[in-house]
Amino acid sequence: MITGLSHVSIVVPDLTAALEKMRATYGLTASEIKVNDEQGVRMTYIDLGNAKIELMEPSRPDSPIAKFLERNPKGGIHHFCLGVDSVEQATNTLTAAGVQVLGAGKVQLNVHGERIAFVHPKDFLGALIELEEHSG
Ligand code: CO
Repeated sequence: MITGLSHVSIVVPDLTAALEKMRATYGLTASEIKVNDEQGVRMTYIDLGNAKIELMEPSRPDSPIAKFLERNPKGGIHHFCLGVDSVEQATNTLTAAGVQVLGAGKVQLNVHGERIAFVHPKDFLGALIELEEHSG
């Protein structure tokens, strides 16, 4: 069901400043910034080869991650993402096992058009988990 680690996601208060710090201090460069209106985020990825770092900032004041920044003004790790063969299958299997899948029943897409779902932290050792379907 789970095929690997896709990315670790960090919420930042200022995406431009975060990218500059990653570049200047760590020599890491990111992909083009994209906006996911549905999720209310501006985001970009730093590709590490075997996994990515996802950097997100709110794209609007009522963004779901604006609340996270209220609690963590300097930003911090928000979730990590596991690749799965099929989000629908994984969601069905996990729901049957008593796991709370967030926004169940509604297909969510990431900026790359891949299907995603989220698992409630209470059902994954306290960590918010994103499941991402990789085509091909
Ligand atoms: Co993510």
